[in-house]
Amino acid sequence: MTLRTFTFGMIASFGSAWLFAVVLPFFKTRDVNPVYFADGIDEKTGVYFPKRTGQITTGAKVYAQNGCYVCHTQVVRPTYAGNDIHRDGWAGFKADPDRGDTRRESNVFDYQGEEFAQIGIMRIGPDLSNVGSRYEKTAIALNELNKTKLGDAWNDSMKTSPEALLLEHLYNPRNKPSMRWSTCPSVRFLFNEPAREGLAPSPKPEARALIGYLLSMKKNDTVPASMNYAPPKPAAQ
Ligand code: HEC
Repeated sequence: MTLRTFTFGMIASFGSAWLFAVVLPFFKTRDVNPVYFADGIDEKTGVYFPKRTGQITTGAKVYAQNGCYVCHTQVVRPTYAGNDIHRDGWAGFKADPDRGDTRRESNVFDYQGEEFAQIGIMRIGPDLSNVGSRYEKTAIALNELNKTKLGDAWNDSMKTSPEALLLEHLYNPRNKPSMRWSTCPSVRFLFNEPAREGLAPSPKPEARALIGYLLSMKKNDTVPASMNYAPPKPAAQ
């Protein structure tokens, strides 16, 4: 092999990776135009603006500091790059009681308000793009189950909340016997240890911010049909 072919080969192999992984995505996303709701197809009109509530900034920092992104992604892949849509609860819900099929792929607006898009490195744990919606659904289902189980013995103070379930997970992911296998690390250092036995540990402000951030992860607002996995069909003329 001559030096010339070697150099050319090196430039071609590294250059093409750089072109497709850095340059093209940069030009595609650096100047994102507003996406409009389409007349006659969408229920809304005007420009799409993502809705998100919660302590996003502080929580995102705690998430980054603790390396959550190493095992958790925050990207529902475009279907051409691997189908995530079929994983119910990851991309949204197939049969949401109010809105029907809410599943969709991630879009650039999903990371609005974050200093870094924490798309993640590996998927050792589940994708967290919709973890807020999943915990809300789980809390409702658990309350319904306990209500039916306990009958008259049930009262509303026994209700669990998405926050309480997340606190339990963050303090000890292996708390439930069915979750003994979990490899999600505990962040109990973000909690004040209970003063006495029998008392629950109380979360420090960092744990609260992290929970606010996790609960803000819902991709359930109405997006323009052009961004939707299953857009509503246009009305028949
Ligand atoms: C070593 C890899 C690893 C790291 C790092 C990690 N997790 Fe996990 N996580 C997992 C695994 C595996 C699961 C699935 C088992 C379970 O639910 O406990 C999981 C599950 C979860 C769940 C439940 C998701 C669901 O849909 O039920 C949440 C919430 C979560 N992790 C949050 C975090 C947060 C916050 C951090 C950072 C403080 C973090 N994880 C760091 C591996 C990891």
